[in-house]
Amino acid sequence: MGAYRHSITKKFGILTAGGDCPGLNAAIRGVCRAAHDRYNMTALGIAQGFRGLIEGDARILNPEDFSGILTRGGTILGASREKPFKALPVRMDSEIESESEKVAAIKEHYYELGLDCLVVLGGNGTNTTGYLLAREGLNVVGLPKTIDNDIVGTDRTFGFNSALAIATEAIDRLHSTAQSHSRVMVIELMGHKAGWLALYAGVAGGGDVILIPEIPYDIKVIGRHLEDRAREGKSFSIVVVAEGALSAGEDKMDKKERKKYRAETAPSIAYRIAREIEAETGMETRATVLGYVQRGGIPSASDRVLATSLGTAAADLLARGEYGRMVALTGNDIGSVDLSVPAGKVKTVPRDHYMVDTAVSVGTCMGIG
Ligand code: F6P
Repeated sequence: MGAYRHSITKKFGILTAGGDCPGLNAAIRGVCRAAHDRYNMTALGIAQGFRGLIEGDARILNPEDFSGILTRGGTILGASREKPFKALPVRMDSEIESESEKVAAIKEHYYELGLDCLVVLGGNGTNTTGYLLAREGLNVVGLPKTIDNDIVGTDRTFGFNSALAIATEAIDRLHSTAQSHSRVMVIELMGHKAGWLALYAGVAGGGDVILIPEIPYDIKVIGRHLEDRAREGKSFSIVVVAEGALSAGEDKMDKKERKKYRAETAPSIAYRIAREIEAETGMETRATVLGYVQRGGIPSASDRVLATSLGTAAADLLARGEYGRMVALTGNDIGSVDLSVPAGKVKTVPRDHYMVDTAVSVGTCMGIG
């Protein structure tokens, strides 16, 4: 190893927040190894996302802590969905409840721990919290992660490619059982607000119907499509649905009405749409909710490369003192954007996105005529 390069940042905190995903440990390794080996920085691992910073739960990460974690799923730091800018108790037994108390505790620990910067690995919510903390005067660098791939400012997030592989393999497996029993198989994938995972896995897995939150569906259109397939001698069909997909009728409801409707029908879209398909077509239909399997296990090679590249790029931002930014993939280049770019936003699938047209071009029904 040559001499250390100059770095404005000497000590930083690192945390992982929001839903976990494959690649988080690869990113932690990328940040910490580059920061330690190239810039001689000290990394403090913060436990359980922002909750650890509110409670002051942090420890120095030594090289053996971030060695050998490239291929490990999950996050060695732990994660939580603690939202400091939302007034909810940190824990049931905690007296820290109000937003101002949480933010005050974060700032107090940030300075007490002697941090020059806070590195946050997370999705929309995490990078938004990072932006809000930057506005409070803290130095923050964000890394985009999520299996949903719905972060504005970066072309892709690590976690997405791994989840895509998991979901595609599940769809492949459903093909054989659907064919054996001449059934309609509905598989529900993650993606509450954005349907990227369902869209890409639906194309990769040859889904006959793909339903995403951005395109409210008409069950009659779906029924006709499935019946056309049956008339063409296709005795089975695969319906890929994002957990946030909804019917045109639900789209017209307000949040309260929709919640009531869903409580009365079925808790999960897969079972709701399976019931609607059976009622509409009389075809035997079964539902599978893939759930948290999509977020588990080792990262794909592509996610390892992306996570490592984003991690080392974050270390370079720390060294240059370029705070208030989120590292990002633009085309094939690793760069960064101001934290205000992803803050408060969700990157949803545009109806005219080429992947929607690709799906339709190979005969996929997107739930509308
Ligand atoms: O944000 C990623 C994600 O996996 C979403 O796709 C999913 O709706 C959500 O997290 C589940 O959140 P939780 O882990 O809190 O149940």
